[in-house]
Amino acid sequence: MGAERTILKTQVGIVGGGPAGLMLSHLLAKSGIENIVVEKRDHETIRTTHRAGILEHGSVRMLTETGVSDRVLSEGYRHEGIDLRFGGESHRIDFEDLVGESVWLYPQNEVFTDLAAARERDHGDVRYGVSDTAVVDLATDTPKILFTDSDGRDFEIHCEILVGSDGSGGICKRSIPKEARTDNFIEYPFAWFGILTRAAPSAPELIYANSDRGFALISQRNDEVQRMYFQCDPNEDAQSWSEERIWDELQARVDGPDGFQLTRGPVFEKTVLKFRSYVCEPLRYGNLFLAGDAGHTVPPTGAKGLNLALADVRVLFEAIDSFYATRSAELLDGYSDKALKRVWRAQNFSYWMTSMLHTRADATLFERKRALGELSGVVASRHGSAYLAEAYTGWPNT
Ligand code: DHB
Repeated sequence: MGAERTILKTQVGIVGGGPAGLMLSHLLAKSGIENIVVEKRDHETIRTTHRAGILEHGSVRMLTETGVSDRVLSEGYRHEGIDLRFGGESHRIDFEDLVGESVWLYPQNEVFTDLAAARERDHGDVRYGVSDTAVVDLATDTPKILFTDSDGRDFEIHCEILVGSDGSGGICKRSIPKEARTDNFIEYPFAWFGILTRAAPSAPELIYANSDRGFALISQRNDEVQRMYFQCDPNEDAQSWSEERIWDELQARVDGPDGFQLTRGPVFEKTVLKFRSYVCEPLRYGNLFLAGDAGHTVPPTGAKGLNLALADVRVLFEAIDSFYATRSAELLDGYSDKALKRVWRAQNFSYWMTSMLHTRADATLFERKRALGELSGVVASRHGSAYLAEAYTGWPNT
């Protein structure tokens, strides 16, 4: 570290340049509110990190209506439903018919690419590859971000509002004193084995499959590349799995009397994704506000993570915008409660989808059959299916 820190002043300092941080930065800039984003990863690392691929209609609208990009509409795929598959049979949940909405298959790294390009186009101040980031003086009128930039120069950002959008392993949440926050969380006794394969799509829409061998998700990316996952042990070593073993396991989880067959291809990425449910309450400490995974994480089943982050950003942006327009902190004071309402709904949905579709290694026969009863109740009932469709496509903004 050098001896001198250069001091930068801005209105909003944002730690974390993933989709949440960049979207907030974009919206603030459009409203004439100065902001600086610092991000520890470099652009290329974020661009090539594979995350979930489903956008709610509200997330798509946010990207297109705020002028980020229309690429989601031209290069994404609109999905009007999903299949729930159990007992070897597929049951379509028709989102359009049930709730008049659909979702878009458009990977999170593409959302990042679009947002990063929009910030660059609009000359936003986004600093990638920073290190030694710390946030201090959070409960004062001038919270600060300390960091070293990618050239090794030390900086101190003095801001009025500090936003932590630095993901589940970020420093912002951990900078809130333990006695000033409640950590709500549960662990799951399983993880996802995720692959990318060069093959034609196995199905036109996503298949969420429950089987005695565990959960599997058949997703897509485009005409040539597909994304699939299957439930595995959190300590599984992905690299020890051969391609053939992966395909045999995936196929066994979707086997059924209808003879459905996955289209196999070379597997060019395999990773074990661990997950948990977590909510930090409140999503605020002094003048630090948490958004997205920095404040809460959901298990991946149902793809709520990014959508929830963008929903936080919408609420937080309105609050910050109102603060600078009126100097009233009313909406800022209401941010945590308002955002947490949606967060807990999504926590419930993600927990429900996860527990309904996965099979615990120690599940009794009763528990297995109860889960099948739950699944058949959902697909047999218009009301049950409509709850799933409404939650999956995204609740209206509240
Ligand atoms: C994908 C991931 C999810 O967690 C999900 O529920 C749906 C799709 C995906 O990566 O395609």
